[in-house]
Amino acid sequence: MSERYFLTTAIDYVNGRPHLGHAYEKILADVLNRYHLSLGQDSFFLTGLDEHGQKVQQSAQAQNIPPQQFCDEMAVHFQTLWKRLHIHPNRFVRTTENNHKEVVRKFLQKLHDQGEIYFKEHEGLYSVRQEQFVTEKEMVNGQWPEIFGEVVKTVEPNYFFKLSSYQDWLRTYLQEHPEWIMPSFRRNEILAALERPLGDLCISRPKSRLSWGIPLPFDEEYVTYVWFDALINYVSFAYYDTPEDRWPADLHIIGKDILIPAHGVYWPIILRALGLTQPRQFLVHGWWLNRGAKISKSVGNTIDPIPYIEKCGADAFRYFLMREMALGQDADFTDDKFIQRYQSDLSKGLGNLVQRSLSMLHRYRQGIVPPIHESCLTDLEKDLQTENVTTNYQSFMDKFEIHHALGAVWTYIQRTDQYVEQTAPWKLAKDPAQSTRLDTVLGHLIESIRRISVLIDAVLPQTSLQIRAQLGLATEPLRLSAASFGNTLTGQVTLAPTALFPRIEELD
Ligand code: MSP
Repeated sequence: MSERYFLTTAIDYVNGRPHLGHAYEKILADVLNRYHLSLGQDSFFLTGLDEHGQKVQQSAQAQNIPPQQFCDEMAVHFQTLWKRLHIHPNRFVRTTENNHKEVVRKFLQKLHDQGEIYFKEHEGLYSVRQEQFVTEKEMVNGQWPEIFGEVVKTVEPNYFFKLSSYQDWLRTYLQEHPEWIMPSFRRNEILAALERPLGDLCISRPKSRLSWGIPLPFDEEYVTYVWFDALINYVSFAYYDTPEDRWPADLHIIGKDILIPAHGVYWPIILRALGLTQPRQFLVHGWWLNRGAKISKSVGNTIDPIPYIEKCGADAFRYFLMREMALGQDADFTDDKFIQRYQSDLSKGLGNLVQRSLSMLHRYRQGIVPPIHESCLTDLEKDLQTENVTTNYQSFMDKFEIHHALGAVWTYIQRTDQYVEQTAPWKLAKDPAQSTRLDTVLGHLIESIRRISVLIDAVLPQTSLQIRAQLGLATEPLRLSAASFGNTLTGQVTLAPTALFPRIEELD
């Protein structure tokens, strides 16, 4: 295991407010970041916003404000939501920052000097209303949708990057690195796309048509167009923001819609042409759907995370998204499923176990954790102590099977709950002869809860803190190694329990 870990997410477009799909990806990155920190690694998490382009320019014009002001206002929505969800990136980037723009220009100049960028007339179909080139793929039943207005053949000279000369290299690289793209079936999709000849990539737009972009260093009448600017954020911010260069990324987290061609073709080739190292791995997640359709601003079916956070807490929202989606697949978000998970796993499951255990500790031992007497241990305790929940959790996390990692923790929670039923401390409390046995059961139970607080930390950080506070423990960053069973809490003074997940019947 390396000492350092560097993970990134896609940077979101600012032309709409953040929705559940954006939130999922940033929660996923935050969970993996916390997990790597818990392994003792120096983990660095980069996320941010993609702020240039036609749509931003148009949205700002529609509001009659300068594009930078529009971006500044939108950035607040994203950053506020990430804070509310306890998503803590080490660096929140915005592509309108000067240092990023400088790196983009430097890279463009280098590629131009190397002869990788050329100028040519480009003939295409141009939507006058949208002020952009369109392709026939965007026609519906042979007609241009209304939003495009008049579509005309236009000739426009532009700058192109020689993607095509790297096609064979990329194919070989993909074949030689079977774990590069996760899940692996996505790698096959890129290989299939590479069966067809690659065209070169148009990287510019004339300033007369698009002013909201980074000017090309070798022709100030043009700006870079979308991907060339956005992708470079991964390197530009790794370079100038940390004492040492963080590049290459260990993990690029992206949605399946931006794998081909952007991350699976353009990005490796841009890096190759620049002479930079390739990222170690791409983690490609699926989509959250709303009644079968991708949640997206353009479909108009977005789901705002805020009402869920307000009603059930950020941790419940984080838990649901991590538990309900098998990473790489799509999943459907419904209020019913959300409430169901909240009730069964959080309120009745984890919340109830912590509350009843601490209540018994206060009722029978004045809230002070009693010793575990070796002589009183039965197979029940021995089984639970040796339960390899930490190993299971870790092996699932390392495979990015977060839903299974949580499954392993919840199996342990259920077993601990059954343990309470099997040992029935309320019966032991009635018999003074059973005093050392009651000590042992309560000591064991509280230690199990401490273990659980460590295991849930990456996904439910606030709940983990609350449990630890109720146990009277310090709230310093947790190491996963602390999840192993120990006789650590004897004599600990605990607080009276408060409900972690109050019961909720419905969402509104
Ligand atoms: N700006 C580009 C990415 C540039 S990365 C150098 C972009 N932005 S986006 O706002 O459209 O999407 C940002 C991320 O959110 C993408 O990874 C995308 O897959 C993800 N999601 C957007 N909607 C989603 C769902 N409904 N479900 C899950 N994630 C989805 O693309």
